[in-house]
Amino acid sequence: MQAHALVPKPISQFGADVRAGLARRGQKELPSKYLYDDVGSALFEVISLLPEYGLTRADERLLKNHAREVAGELPSPLMVAELGSGSGKKTRYILEALSSQQSSSSPVAYYPIEISTAALAMCERELSDLECVSVLGYEREYRQGLKEVASRRGPGEHILVLFLGSTIGNFERPADIQFLREVRRILQPGDALLLGADLEKPLPQLLAAYDDPLGVTAAFNLNLLTRLNRELGADFALDRFRHTAKFNPASRSMEMHIESLCEQTVSIPAANLQVDFAKRETIWTESSHKYSRNELMQAAFTSGFRCRAQWIDAEWPFAENLWVVE
Ligand code: AVJ
Repeated sequence: MQAHALVPKPISQFGADVRAGLARRGQKELPSKYLYDDVGSALFEVISLLPEYGLTRADERLLKNHAREVAGELPSPLMVAELGSGSGKKTRYILEALSSQQSSSSPVAYYPIEISTAALAMCERELSDLECVSVLGYEREYRQGLKEVASRRGPGEHILVLFLGSTIGNFERPADIQFLREVRRILQPGDALLLGADLEKPLPQLLAAYDDPLGVTAAFNLNLLTRLNRELGADFALDRFRHTAKFNPASRSMEMHIESLCEQTVSIPAANLQVDFAKRETIWTESSHKYSRNELMQAAFTSGFRCRAQWIDAEWPFAENLWVVE
């Protein structure tokens, strides 16, 4: 028997994803979902308050102004599933409108599906005062969570899926349509999807939104490195990297990258990895695709829904889309 034989600790899903994204030749990348640990989720809440980042407020205004119309289009009884609830703050308007319009006397069942434990806890707290709403959080990936929630459907019950805040924009085209198709496949006639999507807008506005002067977005992005240090034992020196944001005209998306300021090597023990960076080489951490109104109308059709209504914010180009299954 060899004295030094060692069965290495299996690498986690996080470690495996990091390895896949950083060991590859060409553009290094990390999945954007890993931005949302407790610190990242809290930083995103701050981003949504920044004057330069109008996206979340536009979404919230649309929900506030049109919640009653949305509720009026939907059948009863209804359960609500939300993909990536975050704090749940803007969902309140929809839940309030539904609980006052639903004919049944039993509370509206709301199932937030969220990978961030902290965001889920925040969401449950935020909505705990709504007496006519029962909240049950699922700490799951979207697809898995939605399948589990849908399996709770009672006889004659319909589902409203909320996919707000332009999270859809984090998918590449055409993976966005593929994902919407998967959602459609889980649903049945009479069910609906409320989809919030950020629209194309002038470049200076986009650049400021994703590289704010206070540096909150930079902290949000660089937090991913502190997470690698903490959870995978990596040795990223944060002062040797910087946040960058650029518009990719080919994909019509805002991209966030983390740029190496010098030539350097970083080790990530729990991903079983040593990574070399050239000066100015980047890790691509997120894409936020921007849509046109027509493209969204088309997307409803291509993914098997019918667009019942589309509302646009007057201040910040953003579309709230109510799609139904016929
Ligand atoms: C929450 C995914 C919609 O893509 O605009 C904010 C996240 N990234 N600032 C987005 C984000 C940089 C945000 N989403």
